[in-house]
Amino acid sequence: MTDSDTHEQPLPGGDVTDGIVRVGDTVRRPVGEHSGLVHRALEHLEAAGFDGAPRFLGTDDQGREVLSFIDGDVAGRPWPAWVADPARGASVARLLRRLDDSLVLLGLPEHSAVRSWPSGAPEPVGPTATFLGHRDVTPENTVFRDGEAVALIDFDLLRPSSRVDEVANLLLWWAGWMAPEDRDPVFDGVDPGERGRLLVDAYGLSDEDVDWVVPVSVSAAQQSWHTMSHRAEELGGGWRRMWDAGVGDQIRRREHWLVAEQKSLRRALRESLVDESEEKSSS
Ligand SMILES: Nc1ncnc2c1ncn2[C@@H]1O[C@H](COP(=O)(O)OP(=O)(O)OP(=O)(O)O)[C@@H](O)[C@H]1O
Ligand SMILES: [Mg+2]
Repeated sequence: MTDSDTHEQPLPGGDVTDGIVRVGDTVRRPVGEHSGLVHRALEHLEAAGFDGAPRFLGTDDQGREVLSFIDGDVAGRPWPAWVADPARGASVARLLRRLDDSLVLLGLPEHSAVRSWPSGAPEPVGPTATFLGHRDVTPENTVFRDGEAVALIDFDLLRPSSRVDEVANLLLWWAGWMAPEDRDPVFDGVDPGERGRLLVDAYGLSDEDVDWVVPVSVSAAQQSWHTMSHRAEELGGGWRRMWDAGVGDQIRRREHWLVAEQKSLRRALRESLVDESEEKSSS
């Protein structure tokens, strides 16, 4: 065994999980309560022949999950300008569509179908959750090769979802669906409605689902505020640090922005439908 087989190279990452390392062609990550479900989903994706997710390779002698390392470019902080590139964004939407098409086949395995929401938050709106969605489609969790999104990693937030839940999460990160003052500078000059429409089209959301995107985004912001607040309180650590750094206020600003812009965002997303029906009627 050579040094490169055993050397642990820390992977720069998110705010919550410490101790993620690369060892040779694998990634080792600490496991948590949710890990059983994540492993089930990754095994399903492998069996279904979906190539855009890490393979689950088992656990190591330290009890960490072992995943395949996926070669390519992943955005770090500060985000590179290409995060706001429309063609890149559209490729993420197409990848998410393929991922969801595979996850839909797994449906909701036992122990995953609890419909719950944080206490104090309003009941979520939107289509029923029928499969385990990724729900964390951030630039840091997307691997690119030759300008094309090829894989999604970090399935820790996997949970019962609808396609609209997935697309709402996609727009948050790849269409700048948040208060302008919180948007990353790389999104300067990007119109959230127009970009949202591009991504919704690239995902291929049904007409009926398109109408849910804005209300579900508002609802997701409300859920998220309560969830983050509970986690800061109960789990502390990185959750508390994020809360103290103002993530709660940022989520509230997102909710208010979405509510203030709901009409124009809805209209922007519907324009694609109008275009399509015009094309149909003129052909
Ligand atoms: N399987 C993989 N293939 C390629 N790169 C990976 C893989 N897993 C992790 N990475 C790299 O390591 C970084 C951090 O990993 P990951 O996203 O899994 O955890 P995290 O975001 O730090 O965790 P959390 O979101 O729970 O705080 C990723 O942004 C990516 O650059
Ligand atoms: Mg991550």
